[in-house]
Amino acid sequence: MVSKAPLLRLLTAVNRRRMKLLVVIAFVAYVASAVWGNFVNMRSLQENGEQKIENKIEEAVAPLREKIRDLEKSFTQKYPPVKFLSEKDRKRILITGGAGFVGSHLTDKLMMDGHEVTVVDNFFTGRKRNVEHWIGHENFELINHDVVEPLYIEVDQIYHLASPASPPNYMYNPIKTLKTNTIGTLNMLGLAKRVGARLLLASTSEVYGDPEVHPQSEDYWGHVNPIGPRACYDEGKRVAETMCYAYMKQEGVEVRVARIFNTFGPRMHMNDGRVVSNFILQALQGEPLTVYGSGSQTRAFQYVSDLVNGLVALMNSNVSSPVNLGNPEEHTILEFAQLIKNLVGSGSEIQFLSEAQDDPQRRKPDIQKAKLMLGWEPVVPLEEGLNKAIHYFRKELEYQANNQYIPKPKPARIKKGRTRHN
Ligand SMILES: NC(=O)c1ccc[n+]([C@@H]2O[C@H](COP(=O)([O-])OP(=O)(O)OC[C@H]3O[C@@H](n4cnc5c(N)ncnc54)[C@H](O)[C@@H]3O)[C@@H](O)[C@H]2O)c1
Repeated sequence: MVSKAPLLRLLTAVNRRRMKLLVVIAFVAYVASAVWGNFVNMRSLQENGEQKIENKIEEAVAPLREKIRDLEKSFTQKYPPVKFLSEKDRKRILITGGAGFVGSHLTDKLMMDGHEVTVVDNFFTGRKRNVEHWIGHENFELINHDVVEPLYIEVDQIYHLASPASPPNYMYNPIKTLKTNTIGTLNMLGLAKRVGARLLLASTSEVYGDPEVHPQSEDYWGHVNPIGPRACYDEGKRVAETMCYAYMKQEGVEVRVARIFNTFGPRMHMNDGRVVSNFILQALQGEPLTVYGSGSQTRAFQYVSDLVNGLVALMNSNVSSPVNLGNPEEHTILEFAQLIKNLVGSGSEIQFLSEAQDDPQRRKPDIQKAKLMLGWEPVVPLEEGLNKAIHYFRKELEYQANNQYIPKPKPARIKKGRTRHN
């Protein structure tokens, strides 16, 4: 008989060893899993951290990337097509008031014709945005300067347009309007004399005042109240014309004088209280179109590209006496209101307000002289021009809405309660 005791002891010893082994294995497995878990946690923490850092870097870099893209764009900026002109034909042209409504369109035309253009503007009513598409072009220069101060540059032609043009703007500071039209014009004539340049003055139909003849031809001397609220502009332009002819006679300066009638188009001021801008804004904003009086007063509006062609034709002609530039097609104010309302597709009603004081009943240019001597006449149909202006105003309203500013149309006010159609 074999005794069981040694066998049991043997078995117990083997089990104990296995148990120990199992315990050791379990411990090692536990430690390994803990270490692995930590490792995985650390890894994901590290990955999260890396992600956060990457996000932060991206946040910081994104605007820089945007700026670099803008810079690259500006280096390779696409300008409107510009003709090549030989040295002989290329002129150095100064446009005072070139960042304004008419001046910026004139800048476009002369730049595209291949000339070197210097725009001088104090940005009273003008805007850099009107000429920003030329900034950086080798033929273009923009100078922030007030024409009331002397200017010393070398030029062949001067288009002198610097002056506020709408009643609220020129009545805002009548003394400054007078200085701009008198001292400013003297400074530009002095420059023309010094460098032998030809100067074109942007005069106005307002030199005829409240006319007693209809239509107005250049030999009409006008009917202006020298002490009225509009005199700073009307008389300012009249004396500017006088200065031109004094410089011509006394100093031999070549001058051209354009008497500009009402003009409209893109880049005109949205809220300067003139009839076209008022009606377009009111129609676009669904507000009543305000007509002063019965609306039977007539006005004639030319589209800005017609005016610009007329200015260039006059500058390059040999006509030194004043020339009317305007569109003789007359419409009543009521017709304008209805036409604009229809073109905009607006549901606005037409509201009649009491008649405005000093509101001329009729204004229409006689353009026989421009036709005969410049071969110029307006060609842009009214509806076509209005559609372009409406498109521009729509875009401007969107732009301003995005910039949190929506202007309300303001009627021009001469004095308390006095308004008129311009
Ligand atoms: N637009 C019209 O219907 C009309 C009609 C008749 C005459 N005009 C004449 O045409 C010219 C241009 O008119 P617009 O309609 O383009 O007006 P605008 O106000 O848009 O332009 C005039 C420009 O002259 C600048 N300016 C004003 N004072 C200045 C100063 N002291 N120094 C430098 N710059 C100055 C303004 O900042 C602006 O850019 C004006 O001389 C105006 O009298 C215009």
